Amino acid sequence: MNILVLGSGGREHTFAWKIAQSPLCNALYVAPGNSGTAEVATNVNIGVTDFESIKELVLDKQIDLVVVGPEDPLVQGVHDFFLKDDTIKHIPVIGPQKAAAELEGSKEFAKEFMYRHKIPTAAYESFTKETVEAGYEFLESLNPPYVLKADGLAAGKGVVILNDIDEAKAELKSMLVDAKFGSASTKVVIEEFLDGIELSCFVLTDGKNYKILPTAKDYKRIGEGDTGLNTGGMGAVSPVPFATDEFLNKIEERIVKPTIEGFKKDRLPYVGFVFIGLIKVGDDPKVIEYNVRMGDPETEVVFPRLKNDLVEVLQAMASGTLDTIDLDIDHRAATTIMVVSGGYPEAYEKGKEITGIANIKDSIPFHAGAQLQDGKVVTSGGRVISITSYGETYQEAIKKSYQSIDKLNFDKMYYRKDIGFDL
Ligand code: AMP
Ligand code: GLY
Repeated sequence: MNILVLGSGGREHTFAWKIAQSPLCNALYVAPGNSGTAEVATNVNIGVTDFESIKELVLDKQIDLVVVGPEDPLVQGVHDFFLKDDTIKHIPVIGPQKAAAELEGSKEFAKEFMYRHKIPTAAYESFTKETVEAGYEFLESLNPPYVLKADGLAAGKGVVILNDIDEAKAELKSMLVDAKFGSASTKVVIEEFLDGIELSCFVLTDGKNYKILPTAKDYKRIGEGDTGLNTGGMGAVSPVPFATDEFLNKIEERIVKPTIEGFKKDRLPYVGFVFIGLIKVGDDPKVIEYNVRMGDPETEVVFPRLKNDLVEVLQAMASGTLDTIDLDIDHRAATTIMVVSGGYPEAYEKGKEITGIANIKDSIPFHAGAQLQDGKVVTSGGRVISITSYGETYQEAIKKSYQSIDKLNFDKMYYRKDIGFDL
């Protein structure tokens, strides 16, 4: 079959790398793709929210399956766009419809969903410009730190955690009254601070059945020891060593099952990946957030551990037969270290030539913000390349990734040297 992957990050290179291994895949396209996807697929320079151009491509290349990487097209309704058009409505799209993508598109929607289905999460209230005074009062009733979340998509920057009550009130005003995140902060969710260690759980669903992929933990802060600004993710480890069978069982019973049941009860059309951001509070899992896609860089450690033919799994998701699939998971650990442009997540330079990728033999280099230019691979984003390795232990895998990174070079390259430090 002919397959189209939407996106251009390390996640999408990993999807393409895995799909290209399948004997079921005839032609593989990635829009817009990067220098890594170009090695295993044909890149097509179309943006992920340019639905009309995506439709033309799908018809022109006789695509049989579309896999959506990032959240933006899902929240904007790419799946619904296909279903509404007679010429492409028969082509399966992996990714939820717009109504279900609101789980990521609106924090308030997600909190209401969790409350309705008794899924453990932090206590919260939400506020608007009109109720900002009530918001100040609610903040006064909480203990620090204060967690403020812009309701809508804010490119991963919409969550602010502050220790000082006056700063928290000023932040609330800035979000609601001064529209700090534009329309994304028309509403703000204020929630109870949960103290614990984070991990992520990834679930595949066809809307009725589900399968749980391996857990992963990512490292979101730019600085060592989890300090400094938030990023998209600086590295990841799978499996998560502290996620014992007993704890995984709690996640499945208390969170995964009611989530999938909730989709059915609320009639939220969901064929795709559910990324559940969790925090372990004491011995219990609580949900921090839902994402309606795979994580990046978590995909770079989760998919390399999946031994199944990914196309078979995607077909089962599309046809509602996920119950016929048994996931086969590599017992080895996988780790990935994200190499980024100096300055990221603030301003950084692009267009730096990356050398040494071909010398990496013991790891898999998944390209992210990297593009081909005049036959060379150059940086084109903040997160540039993610180096994944396997090991009998996560420590062994991490060591391999660092040894591979020693072979890599570009001007002002940076990476965290402490991935896994807290495990
Ligand atoms: P989110 O965008 O919702 O994933 O939030 C970004 C980060 O903020 C999370 O990865 C957590 O580290 C942190 N966070 C969000 N909500 C809470 C909470 N209720 N308590 C503690 N930390 C939180
Ligand atoms: N690594 C976190 C995310 O993909 O949202």
